[in-house]
Amino acid sequence: MKFLVFLGTVRESTPPKPARLGLRVAKACIACLDERYAEHDIELIDPLDYPLDTIFKPQFSYLPGKAPEALNTLADKIASADGFVMISPEYNHSMSPALANLLNHFGSSLFAYKPSAIVTYSAGQWGGMRAAVNMRTYLAELGCLPVSAMIHIPKAQEVFTEEGAMQAGEDKNSWFGYLGRTFNQLMWWAQATNTHRDVVDPHNMVGDFTKTPTERNAP
Ligand SMILES: Cc1cc2nc3c(=O)[nH]c(=O)nc-3n(C[C@H](O)[C@H](O)[C@H](O)COP(=O)(O)O)c2cc1C
Repeated sequence: MKFLVFLGTVRESTPPKPARLGLRVAKACIACLDERYAEHDIELIDPLDYPLDTIFKPQFSYLPGKAPEALNTLADKIASADGFVMISPEYNHSMSPALANLLNHFGSSLFAYKPSAIVTYSAGQWGGMRAAVNMRTYLAELGCLPVSAMIHIPKAQEVFTEEGAMQAGEDKNSWFGYLGRTFNQLMWWAQATNTHRDVVDPHNMVGDFTKTPTERNAP
């Protein structure tokens, strides 16, 4: 199966230091996934690789020559993925605007009927858990239902090195055990939905909304 690990930071400015703390969280998550699930394809999606115009040009209203080509590439990756790891810092008790901005460019049918895992972190003591709570609602609306276990990493700079390895004194088994519980749930649901998508195509059975948001309205 194929999994996309979305990183939710583009922050270069400091303070607070260090900038892009999330990159080390993403590296640690990928190391854990590679170690436990080497048979699967795990790809990091870094928002810096998909620079977006100030003018909103969503991929789902793609007009030839209007939307950045990179968004079409990413749309293909999302469509062919079996599950997602969504890594976000907590900014003002909310999920990362960089992550929401990138994800908002794609229709929910690309994400739907596949599971997601929520990973939040912070430089302080709460590990981004307030952001995680509203990510559940957000990801449910995209149709990639979050698994029940979540990962929160307080003081992430004291846990992981820049390379995503353990800082001195941190126990890798304990941390990978903690990360792994959420990733095990993700894998279980991904396998289940992967198998069942082959039995019943949800896009045919349920039908995707493609024209206007009013398609969701009660009669
Ligand atoms: C605009 C802004 C708002 C922040 N709000 C919170 C917050 O609500 N809760 C928290 O624990 N940390 C907060 N922080 C601190 C972040 O946890 C810390 O800066 C972290 O490194 C951000 O992740 P990043 O470096 O990957 O962007 C905030 C940081 C910034 C820049």
